[in-house]
Amino acid sequence: MFQMLIHGLALFWSTSVTTLETDTDVEVRLLDNQNAPLTAIFDMSKANDRVNQFVSDAIEAKMTDIEENLDQQIENFERNLTLHFTDYLHGIADKIVKENEKNKVTKQRPRCCEDIMPKGQNGIHTIFPISNDNGFEVYCDFKTDNGNWTVFQRRINGTTDFFRGWEEYENGFGNLEVEFWLGNRKINELTSTGKHELRIDLTDFVGNTGFAKYSTFFVGNGSSNYKLTVGGYSGSLGDSLKEVNGMSFTTKDRDYDHHSALNCANNNKGAWWYHDCTYSNLNGQYRQSGQISVEGIYWYTWKSSCYSMKSSVMMFRKVH
Ligand SMILES: *[C@@H]1O[C@H](CO)[C@@H](O)[C@H](O)[C@H]1NC(C)=O
Ligand SMILES: *[C@@H]1O[C@H](CO)[C@@H](O)[C@H](O)[C@H]1NC(C)=O
Ligand SMILES: *[C@@H]1O[C@H](CO)[C@@H](O)[C@H](O)[C@H]1NC(C)=O
Ligand SMILES: *[C@@H]1O[C@H](CO)[C@@H](O)[C@H](O)[C@H]1NC(C)=O
Repeated sequence: MFQMLIHGLALFWSTSVTTLETDTDVEVRLLDNQNAPLTAIFDMSKANDRVNQFVSDAIEAKMTDIEENLDQQIENFERNLTLHFTDYLHGIADKIVKENEKNKVTKQRPRCCEDIMPKGQNGIHTIFPISNDNGFEVYCDFKTDNGNWTVFQRRINGTTDFFRGWEEYENGFGNLEVEFWLGNRKINELTSTGKHELRIDLTDFVGNTGFAKYSTFFVGNGSSNYKLTVGGYSGSLGDSLKEVNGMSFTTKDRDYDHHSALNCANNNKGAWWYHDCTYSNLNGQYRQSGQISVEGIYWYTWKSSCYSMKSSVMMFRKVH
């Protein structure tokens, strides 16, 4: 019956605990449900059991508290770790995305043939030089002499007329897949950023081939009348550009050559950086079967004559 009381009532240890009949008998002031004090006499050994129980319960409660707290802490820590790890992964993912976009931009917007990726067959690509936001098409050669070449002139069979005026040479003409002149404005634009080298490949009508390479190649802008800067020859054709280095471009309708009497473009039936006039005339008339003519497509130092070539290719690329 007393045990029931203990369980049913709020336990309250009196400040005045009076010893009764025996050492273990104690008078305890208890409060019942109505907070009415009541006095009970009970066996102290039982009370000790209660106290023990109480303390043990309290410790257990505290332990559970600590355990729960620890669980909470671990959970928080795990959550934090997950959050931080997620943040970290997001960071990496963002970086990869940004890097990809950067690559895509250069992939989509190559500034020259060198930037084209991947480099497969030779062919036409749109490039976007810094000063030209709309871009334009060029023919890239990825095979010859380690590639990256922008082809700016080709003669193969005489389908295209090259005896044209200033404006056409300025803007370019012909078919990039067959015969063409890329255009002085574009050549200037492309050779203006960084250093470039020039390569010229010629074939005659009996299957001989030769090349000339120049470690320096630059064509000035319209204000200089597309002045040629060329030097550092190597190759098998001999140097037939030596005399025209530093010359402006001359066409049949714009005479900037140094010949006192002639317009060299008219004299050589082409358009070139004529001096007075020239040892090279790769924009001359297409002549069959290796005809010798000052109007032909000739490179004097190769044939020691004005032998007209079967084919001519002129191209440049960036030097690093
Ligand atoms: C979890 O992160 C919050 C805020 O970053 C921090 O206040 C808390 O102490 C962290 N908890 C743990 C367990 O690392
Ligand atoms: C060609 O271009 C690639 C970059 O696209 C470059 O790594 C390589 O060195 C270039 N080669 C030459 C010969 O310019
Ligand atoms: C010139 O070559 C191109 C391309 O190979 C060809 O389509 C064209 O018919 C040729 N023209 C002549 C006159 O041979
Ligand atoms: C042409 O190029 C020269 C130097 O190379 C420069 O000083 C001049 O401003 C350019 N002119 C034009 C119209 O771009």
